[in-house]
Amino acid sequence: MLVNLCVLTLACLFAWLYLRWTKVRSYWSDRDVPHLPPHPVWGSLTFLQQINVGLWFKNIYSKFQSPYFGIWLFWRPALVVNCPEIGKRILVKDADNFRDRFLSSGKNDPIGALNIFTVNEPLWSSIRRRLTSVFTSSKLKSMHGLFQQKSVELVQRIQTDLKAGKKFDTRSLYTDYTTDIIGIAAFGVDSNATITGESHMRTVTKDFMEYSFWRGMAWTSIFFFPSLVDIFGFTMFPKKTTDYFRKVYHSIAKQRSAEGSGKKDLVDALLKIKQDSLNTNEGISDDALIAQAAVFLQGGFDTSGSALTFITYELAYNQEVQEKLYNEIAELKQRIGDKPLQTDDLTNLTYLNCVINEAIRKYPPMGFLDRIAAKDYKIDDNLTIPAGTPVYVNAIGMHYDPKYFPDPEQFNPDRFLPENEKNIPANVFMPFGDGPRNCIGMRFAKLNLCAALAHVFLHYRVRPLAGFLKPNDLEIEKNAIFLMPGAINPVEFVPRSDEFK
Ligand code: HEM
Ligand SMILES: *[C@@H]1O[C@H](CO)[C@@H](O)[C@H](O)[C@H]1NC(C)=O
Ligand SMILES: *[C@@H]1O[C@H](CO)[C@@H](O)[C@H](O)[C@H]1NC(C)=O
Ligand SMILES: *[C@@H]1O[C@H](CO)[C@@H](O)[C@H](O)[C@H]1NC(C)=O
Repeated sequence: MLVNLCVLTLACLFAWLYLRWTKVRSYWSDRDVPHLPPHPVWGSLTFLQQINVGLWFKNIYSKFQSPYFGIWLFWRPALVVNCPEIGKRILVKDADNFRDRFLSSGKNDPIGALNIFTVNEPLWSSIRRRLTSVFTSSKLKSMHGLFQQKSVELVQRIQTDLKAGKKFDTRSLYTDYTTDIIGIAAFGVDSNATITGESHMRTVTKDFMEYSFWRGMAWTSIFFFPSLVDIFGFTMFPKKTTDYFRKVYHSIAKQRSAEGSGKKDLVDALLKIKQDSLNTNEGISDDALIAQAAVFLQGGFDTSGSALTFITYELAYNQEVQEKLYNEIAELKQRIGDKPLQTDDLTNLTYLNCVINEAIRKYPPMGFLDRIAAKDYKIDDNLTIPAGTPVYVNAIGMHYDPKYFPDPEQFNPDRFLPENEKNIPANVFMPFGDGPRNCIGMRFAKLNLCAALAHVFLHYRVRPLAGFLKPNDLEIEKNAIFLMPGAINPVEFVPRSDEFK
C-alpha cells in the first residue's frame, strides 16, 4: 500500500517536472527567437567550469546572425543582445527599466550584499549618487602621487627580480602593484606588495585569485542562479576577508577622525559620506561603507592587473607596437628632462591610450553586461520580454566582430588613433559597460594603467621567451567568470639603459 503510494507520488512528480520542462524547452521557439537547444538540467550553461564565461559569450556571438538570441540559465530563459542599437537602449536610453543586475550576492553577508556592484534599487541609486563624489577629477588628482610612487617601485621591483634571475610571472607582479594602489586608496592601509610581493592586503587579493571548486560554485550561483545563494550559504567574499576589512576600516576611521588625514583618497570620501549621513539622519551603516571599499578592491585589482599582463604579453609579440609606444613615452621624457614622469602628462599620450583600449577590446574583463528587466519590455516588433527576464549585452562579441573591428584577432592599437576611431560605430566598444550603471572606476583604472605602462616601458623592452604560446593561443582561466589569464605567461625584460641592469 505504502509502496504504491510512493510510486504514485514519484510518477506524479516526474510527470509534473516533464510538463514543466516541455514548457521551458519551447520558451524561445514559441517566440521565434533563435537559440540552441537547452540541456535538461543546465539549460545553456553546460560550459561552466570548462570554458571561461566571457569566452563563451564571444564564441556564441558568431553562431547567430540575428540581433539577439535566447539562452537558459538552468531553466530560466534569458536574452543575449548582439546588436549595438538594442544594447544602447537597454544600457542607456531605457536604463530606467534595467537598473538592476540579474546577479545577486544574497543576504548572508552584508559586505557582499550592500556593495554597489551587486545591490538593487532603490538602494543602488542612492549609493551610486553618493559615490560619484569619490571619483571626481580633483580626488583622482590627489591620488596621482600614489600612482607615480608605486609605478617607480614597480620599475625597481623588476630590476631586483632581474638581478635575482627570477622568471617573471607578470600577472603576480602587476596584481602586487594594483593591490597596493587600490588597497591604499580604498582602505588607507599601507602596503608594500609592489616591492616585496606580499602584504596583508595582498594576502586578501591572492585569496580572491584562487579558483577553488567551492568559490567557483559560489560565483556561478551569484551570477546565474542567485536564488540558490542564500540556500547554500554562498558569499561573494570569504568570511576571513570581510573580518579583515572590518578591522582595517575601523582602525583607519578612528585614526583619521583623531588626526584628520588631508589625503583626500577614496577612504576619505567614504568617511565623509558617513559623516554627511549622520548630519541628515539617513544613517549609513559601517558595513555599507566597507562594502564599497571591498568592491573597489575586488573590481579593481584583477581587472587592471590582467589588462597590464595582456598588454605586456602582446607588446612582447608585437615589437613595432612596442617601439611606437616607447618612442611616445621617450619623447615626453625628453621634453620634461630630469623631472619624473607626471601622471597628468601621461593621460594624454595618444598612443598609450590606444594600446590600453586595444587591450581591453581584445580582453574585456567583463565582456557581458547583465541587467534584469523591471517591467515588460518591447525589444522590437517581434519580441516583448516579460518583467524579470535577465538580459546580457554581448560586448565581447561585438569587440570581435570583423564588421566593426577588421581582423579582430590582431592586436592593433592604430584602430583607436583619432583618425581611425571614427570608423568604429557607436556602442560597439564597451570595455567599461555603458549608461548609468557603467564602471565607476573607469578613470581611476586608466590613470593606474597609464602610470604603470609608461614607467615600465620607458625602462624595459619586453621580448617573448622561447616555448611560450602566441597571444591568441593564451590559456584563459576556465573556472572564472571574468576574462583572466589561465596560466603563467612570462616574458623577458631587457633594460633599456645600463642604469637598470
Ligand atoms: C581595466 C580596468 C577595469 C575594467 C575593464 C572594468 C570594467 C567594468 C565593467 C564592464 C563593469 C560593468 C559595467 C556595466 O554593467 O555597464 C564594471 C563595473 C564596476 N567597476 Fe569596473 N572595471 C575596471 C576597473 C575598475 C576599478 C579600478 C574600480 C574601482 C576603483 C572598478 C569599480 C567598479 C564598480 C564599483 C562597478 C559596479 C558599478 C555599478 O554597478 O554601479 N572597476 N567595471
Ligand atoms: C612600506 O615601505 C615604506 C618605505 O620603505 C616604509 O616606510 C613602510 O613602513 C612600509 N610599510 C609597511 C606596512 O611595511
Ligand atoms: C596634457 O593636457 C594638459 C591639459 O590639457 C596640457 O596642459 C599638457 O601640456 C598636455 N600634456 C601633453 C604631454 O601633451
Ligand atoms: C520580425 O521578424 C520578421 C520575420 O522573421 C523579420 O522579417 C523582421 O525583420 C523582424 N522585425 C524586426 C524589427 O526585427
